[in-house]
Amino acid sequence: MTVEKSVSTHWPPSSMDTLCSAVLNRLRQQGDAVSGEALSLEMGVSRNSIWKCIEHLRSGGYHIAGTRRQGYLLLSAPDTPYPWEIAYNLPTQELGRHGIYVAETSSTNDLVRQLARRQAPHGLVAVADKQLNGRGRRGRTWDSADNVGLWCSLLLRPKLPPTQLTLFPLLAGVAVIAAITEQTGLQAVLKWPNDVLLDMRKVCGILLELSAEADTVHHLVLGIGINVNQELRHFPDELRSSAGSLRLASGQMQLRVPLLQQVLVQIERRYLQLVAAGPTALLREVREHTSMIGKPVSVLAAEGAVLAGTALDIAADGALLVRDDNGHIHTVYAGDVSVRSPDA
Ligand code: BTN
Repeated sequence: MTVEKSVSTHWPPSSMDTLCSAVLNRLRQQGDAVSGEALSLEMGVSRNSIWKCIEHLRSGGYHIAGTRRQGYLLLSAPDTPYPWEIAYNLPTQELGRHGIYVAETSSTNDLVRQLARRQAPHGLVAVADKQLNGRGRRGRTWDSADNVGLWCSLLLRPKLPPTQLTLFPLLAGVAVIAAITEQTGLQAVLKWPNDVLLDMRKVCGILLELSAEADTVHHLVLGIGINVNQELRHFPDELRSSAGSLRLASGQMQLRVPLLQQVLVQIERRYLQLVAAGPTALLREVREHTSMIGKPVSVLAAEGAVLAGTALDIAADGALLVRDDNGHIHTVYAGDVSVRSPDA
């Protein structure tokens, strides 16, 4: 079935968004038909507004049986990351309580940056089915095909000193690994600094952007792209040997809404722990999941310089420590790292 994409949501939520969310919660809670009249009385709006809301939800992919007279029965919900779907039964305190969903945007990171200027709250998540200008690290583009991936960005106003912000991409990386395991049972690995790999193929990339002055952080935008339901044919030629998806690795289609909920839960757990108790536990987890520790690596820096050596450890600020062939230890903050064969 093709789902019409006429339903986008807004920040702040429109009156229709708020009504849809309340009506859905009520239908779910009832588990049976609820009359238009009861909904209209409970929500304090006209029966016509309830009918419009039901039609709006239907056009957004919900199967709702019934009529104004018989009452409405929710038969099924789409796997579309509407904010009310993300927030439904979501066991977080801060993340994902507010959100915006659009079928299409240039980049969810750009969308969140605009919303941050309009005082959107900490924890807001923006999700798009398709990005027209998805951005990757180091000025690259991020292939963001329609409906097959989870393209989302989180607005964070962290209560942390700027020195700990370098840990955020790593935090997001291990959180995504945990979310993938929860959803699929698969064990992904972290390719420093923040690529997530399954079967040696990249299934997730993370782009952290910040708005800060010398010693004050205004906000962070944490962009996460997860390849969920791509088959190889969905990737452009140049990515076909290196990109993967949860579907390719698990052999099954995967749902995006529960995956995003898990990502939010896992990020929040680590974020709250970092704020309360510092980075020790996070760093331990990063070391456990980083596939390249102890292996010969080459690091391609932004300016094109190449460093060959052995990856030793992750430093307290998230940097990668690499010992070169002369025994010098380098602290690497950014770059593309690949494991090389020992004699290369
Ligand atoms: C990388 O590995 O280079 C980072 C990729 C980050 C992609 C995500 S998708 C959601 C968010 N919006 C963007 O434009 N980029 C990030």
